[in-house]
Amino acid sequence: MADPRCHVIVIPYPAQGHINPLLQFAKRLASKGVKATFATTPYTVNSIHAPNVGVEPISDGFDEGGFKQSSGVEAYLESFKTVGSRTLTELILKFNASGFPVTCIVYDSLLTWAVDVAKQLGIYAAVFLTNSASVCSMYWQIDQGLLTLPVKQETVPVSLPGLPSLDFYELPSFLASPTTHSAYLETILQKFHSLDKNDWVFCNSFEELEIELVRAMRGLWPVVMVGPTLPSAYLDQQIDGDTAYGASLWEQTTDQCLRWLDTKPPDSVIYVSFGSMADISAKQVEEIAWGLEVSNWPFLWVIKDSENKLPVDFISSVGETGIVVAWCNQLEVLAHQAVGCFVTHCGWNSTLEGLSLGVPMVGVTQWSDQPTNAKFIEELWKVGVRAKKDEEGIVRRQELEKCIREVMVGERSEEMKNKASKWRDLAKAAVGLGGSSDTKINQFVLKLLDEKK
Ligand code: UDX
Repeated sequence: MADPRCHVIVIPYPAQGHINPLLQFAKRLASKGVKATFATTPYTVNSIHAPNVGVEPISDGFDEGGFKQSSGVEAYLESFKTVGSRTLTELILKFNASGFPVTCIVYDSLLTWAVDVAKQLGIYAAVFLTNSASVCSMYWQIDQGLLTLPVKQETVPVSLPGLPSLDFYELPSFLASPTTHSAYLETILQKFHSLDKNDWVFCNSFEELEIELVRAMRGLWPVVMVGPTLPSAYLDQQIDGDTAYGASLWEQTTDQCLRWLDTKPPDSVIYVSFGSMADISAKQVEEIAWGLEVSNWPFLWVIKDSENKLPVDFISSVGETGIVVAWCNQLEVLAHQAVGCFVTHCGWNSTLEGLSLGVPMVGVTQWSDQPTNAKFIEELWKVGVRAKKDEEGIVRRQELEKCIREVMVGERSEEMKNKASKWRDLAKAAVGLGGSSDTKINQFVLKLLDEKK
């Protein structure tokens, strides 16, 4: 039963890689007796299924969706700021009049305006960071004037507190080439600039995973690690019967995938997915296709526009060896015992999911934080390898085949599997009762309740 003294509204940026961690966090709060409401755009609201969490629409000004075609990210965020501030305020006032007054807003860090709504209404604000703490610390250093942009190729490797030294190609792409996605970079830097306005700064990671950084930043910045935000069933804690993220923006073919996986031996399948946003070129898709074919392991490949991009004779050529689907429940697939390797773009959610479910990885990165995540996967956490790109920026079939072989049966294969199991156990412990992340979430809830006594 939710405590009416403690009502948190959680607001995601309406993309799959943001809805997942934020919704999961809302569910975690609900499991601790907090009344949690998930406020998202009208065109994503029907995709949300979470029994203990209320779901309400707030508008970004594009109620039919379609903003990606009609506007750039800057115009989109500006629209969300204007219309979102208004509709969020209306929603909170509605709750305040209904006997469930809102105590706190937890919002995706891309929605920097939400903190102003909270402050105007005199309630708490908590920003939720969806990248690793290490990547966030780089943006924070820029805001603090400790790292200067553009990072020049001649000034690398870059040495920053708590991080391994980073080569140019290992930096988040927004830092390596700040003009290519300047609107994204500006938005990101803005959120770090306004960090101090918040009462809490949460990050979807756990202390044990980024312990050097946690030690180096202790007392310097306010970030609190509360992840990984996975359904508890995947962390072996049936505390709340929570078995799915509860949000999918595309139709899933999970049953077909699981039935097919059931026919494969343990640790034999290569699962390939590049998340929800990456737009993989037709050339890269072709190289991945033939790389998988020559690898000769069974594979399950998630690709949304396969009909336009897959080589015409690929499906007939691989026959029963592999299946290609448009979308699945990634957690269920990664948790299946048949999966032995995850070929991933290293988006932060996918990285955390691979680590938390103990699956070794091959990184085929695209942009944003992914090159940095891939470096950590290979060098720091030692649970995988990075595929090298050629001068055209393509991972060729031979390189992919070599990486898959290294992970599946190479000299370091056992070490990667052991490390993957170790991180899985540490992730479970962090969110388990009394673990580092669980403790931080309890402190947050207690503070909210305390204020209302
Ligand atoms: C992006 C960025 O890449 C990421 O680094 C950032 O932190 C958030 O926004 P995205 O590219 O979609 O996200 O990748 P990722 O972060 O890996 O998130 C993808 C999500 O979609 C994961 O939670 C994954 O479980 C889910 N997914 C993916 C599915 O549910 N089904 C699929 O078939 C593929």
